[in-house]
Amino acid sequence: MTLTQLPLEDTFGDIVGKAMRGTGISSARLASASGVPADSIERWRKDDGAANDAQARAIANVLQLDGSKLADSAAQRWYPPAIERPDIGRHEQQSQVRSNGYVYFRESHRAALVDPAGVPASLLRILRDGGYDLQFILITHKHDDHCDAANAVAAAYPDARIVMHELDVHAIGSLASRAAVVRDGESLPFGDGSTIRVLHTPGHTDGSTCYLVDGALFSGDTLFAASVGGAYGDASTYGDILRSIRGKLFTLPDETVVMPGHGPPTTIALEKEHNPFF
Ligand SMILES: [Fe+2]
Repeated sequence: MTLTQLPLEDTFGDIVGKAMRGTGISSARLASASGVPADSIERWRKDDGAANDAQARAIANVLQLDGSKLADSAAQRWYPPAIERPDIGRHEQQSQVRSNGYVYFRESHRAALVDPAGVPASLLRILRDGGYDLQFILITHKHDDHCDAANAVAAAYPDARIVMHELDVHAIGSLASRAAVVRDGESLPFGDGSTIRVLHTPGHTDGSTCYLVDGALFSGDTLFAASVGGAYGDASTYGDILRSIRGKLFTLPDETVVMPGHGPPTTIALEKEHNPFF
């Protein structure tokens, strides 16, 4: 299975909007501190045009973003190179929002499904057609576009172990009682000698979790190519999502492949180099 080319999850306008919300800086304040007119900022947030390099740098300076990376975003100068992992299949999930779910499998066909969402019948067909022995259902966070088919998949694969952080697990209803309680940093044995490492990365939601398997990081809505998830936690914040990424993801090996919940795959090295939030 190949991973198709997807547009970047966030536009320049989305990135500016996330940083403004996260830092609590209004357009009026951003305008007066950067010298860029407030009406331009408002237009850009609606993807009507984008800043030139000097304007992007001025805005970045106020929003604590990286100036040259934000300028690249405004000019649409960067997109990750094609990244292929023959052992990972992506399935596009059509909930209210399009998202990426994945099947990671070993030679033995032992498999882990990441984020069961979308139309259950098409998800179950993918699992059946692949002849997978589904051992894990890994859920990155509580939003519907990442877990609304959890019940259907769990019913079809009663032996699969469900993993979801306890702070988000209420989203799967009665299935929550079947979910494994896991701690940050824990490693779960998987297949023939492999492990799944659980990384609690709060910020997008309180229980947001990334899963690291054989050099691939399933990052949910925590880290995207050239952006980060919005801060929608009850207790966790924009600061937490940036700290989670800096402390727990950017400390992984540079070559780690990142499979995000939206948009194209990337790597830790590429994100250090191109993500305007860092
Ligand atoms: Fe989400």
